[in-house]
Order: sequence, then C-alpha cells, then structure tokens
Amino acid sequence: MICKGENVLFQELDAFISSFEEKEGELIAILHKAQSLFGYLPRELQEYIADKIGAPVAKVNGVVSFYNYFTTEPRGKRQISVCLGTACYVRGAEKVLKELKRVLNVEVGQVTEDGVFSIDCLRCFGACMLAPVIVIDKDVHGKVLPKDVKGILEQYREKANVHE
Ligand code: FES
Repeated sequence: MICKGENVLFQELDAFISSFEEKEGELIAILHKAQSLFGYLPRELQEYIADKIGAPVAKVNGVVSFYNYFTTEPRGKRQISVCLGTACYVRGAEKVLKELKRVLNVEVGQVTEDGVFSIDCLRCFGACMLAPVIVIDKDVHGKVLPKDVKGILEQYREKANVHE
C-alpha cells in the first residue's frame, strides 16, 4: 500500500507527467518512472496515473500486465532473477529455483518476510556458458548448484544488514 509519507514521490511523478504535452502517448515512460520511484505499480498507483493522463484504468492495467518488466507487487531490497532459458534449464535451474524458494520461504513474485529478497524468473541473460545462472541485483552467479544457494544468500543478507 502506498502511504502519504510518499508524497514527495507523487510530486516527482506529477512533475514528470506534466512535462509531456501528449500524456497518454507517454504511458510507458510514465509507468517506468512510477516504478522507479515507488518500486512497484499497485492498483491504486495505476488509478492515480490513469486519472492524471485522462485514460481508462483498464488501459494502464493492460500495459502493466503486458510487460514483464512491470510489477504490481513490492520487490525486496535484493532482487534475485533466476534464468530459466534453455541452457540453464537443462543444467538444473529448476532445482536451484526450488532451493531458493525453500530457503527463503517465498514463491516467485513474492518478497521475504524481512523484505530483503524477492525472486523472479527470466529467459537467458546471455551468459549460457555459466549455466545455470542467477543474478542478484547486478551480480551474475554462474554454475550454481542447489547446495550453493544458502551461502550465496548469506552474503547478500549480510550486505543488506550492514548497509541499510
Ligand atoms: S539460458 Fe541461462 S543464461 Fe542463457
């Protein structure tokens, strides 16, 4: 839920939207901006944007649902992306994903209770030689085995606690 404490973000979003003359035609750019500000695009934010640009909510929602990039759920501080492209899949990416879900106790698209991690799945990072691959934030981890998962996560959990 987006709270009033985030008014500054709304102001920044409003200023961005106002910079366009033909606002509806810039819907994708506006959604990018909104997601980068708020981290995700919940229904109420979609309604807000629809109202601002004078478009039906269904149109905004249609664009949000169409692109994988957009998310309607909050994400963790550390975003884990698991590659399920062919090379990674063949080399056991599904087992790695299963272990990630088991250790973190979340499903794909959910955030851990402590807000640190969330998982999504993508198809091919272009690092097939390193299959199976997971990417955490911008770090690529290659040739990952299910038994490596706990240790990898620990590094990020420590970083999250130290810096935030
Ligand atoms: S299939 Fe996973 S990096 Fe290419």
